Amino acid sequence: MGITLRPEEGQRLKGRVALITGGAHGIGRAYALRFAQEGARVAIADLDLPGAEIVAKEISAQNGEAIAVAVDVTDTKMIADAVERIVDAFGTIDILLNNAAMFSVVPMSRVGFDALSIEEWDAMMSTNVKGPWLMARAVAPVMRKNQSGKIINISSGTAFKGTNTQIHYVTSKAAVLGFTKTLARELGGDGINVNAIAPGNTLSEEDPDDKTVTMRSGAIPSRALRRLESPEDIVGAAVFLASSDSDFITGQTIVVDGGSVMH
Ligand SMILES: NC(=O)c1ccc[n+]([C@@H]2O[C@H](COP(=O)([O-])OP(=O)(O)OC[C@H]3O[C@@H](n4cnc5c(N)ncnc54)[C@H](O)[C@@H]3O)[C@@H](O)[C@H]2O)c1
Repeated sequence: MGITLRPEEGQRLKGRVALITGGAHGIGRAYALRFAQEGARVAIADLDLPGAEIVAKEISAQNGEAIAVAVDVTDTKMIADAVERIVDAFGTIDILLNNAAMFSVVPMSRVGFDALSIEEWDAMMSTNVKGPWLMARAVAPVMRKNQSGKIINISSGTAFKGTNTQIHYVTSKAAVLGFTKTLARELGGDGINVNAIAPGNTLSEEDPDDKTVTMRSGAIPSRALRRLESPEDIVGAAVFLASSDSDFITGQTIVVDGGSVMH
């Protein structure tokens, strides 16, 4: 997906600073491009620094503002350094989008619950559950100082229904729902909103082969809106939750999956 930056008028995130984890690839890249289009200055934080730099350059080439930072969301030192660097570069952080996860770029096994290794279970919980907590812990002081902020956590539709052979992933994404509600209660007094998005099975691979398209198409019959889901289908919900349009919404989860899960 390419981008064309909008004229300033109508930009819904103008003047905001957004930190997007896992922004180098897939849906995270789409959030980064769209947030920049909406006028945000964007920090793309990813394990894959060269990948994050490509996305940042794509935004800069359109006169947007973006920086790439190397972050492993399980590493407190890297997180602290990244937050410091972003605040130095942009002055503050208004939006934290906790998108990084073990999923496709950092792949997971798809095996029965009793065939999964303990090491992979722990790695999944570390990235997908501890990661958002460590990120929120590091960014909260900046938002508390501002007495405002938006934290958006990425869960998954699968947390509402379960999926065969991904018990560690599904469990981690269900944890994100409880994390979101508790964090919303703890940070509400500081004017900080915390919400979640639960995407459906999304064709997020950059160059998908036929097998991947078939696998992602498997979700179509369960949807009220019967088609493939693309990263661009999800970004509008993220812009809404990052913008002042959602100022009185917190602790909620928006399922963006074409009406497969209805809750
Ligand atoms: N694609 C789907 O079908 C789908 C469905 C529901 C939810 N989701 C969720 O949406 C988010 C994005 O999904 P995607 O398909 O774009 O995934 P992806 O695997 O394509 O991209 C994830 C990104 O996170 C980065 N990352 C992984 N581990 C990291 C770590 N420890 N520290 C920093 N960065 C790290 C990767 O380098 C990559 O850029 C994830 O939270 C995923 O669980 C995806």
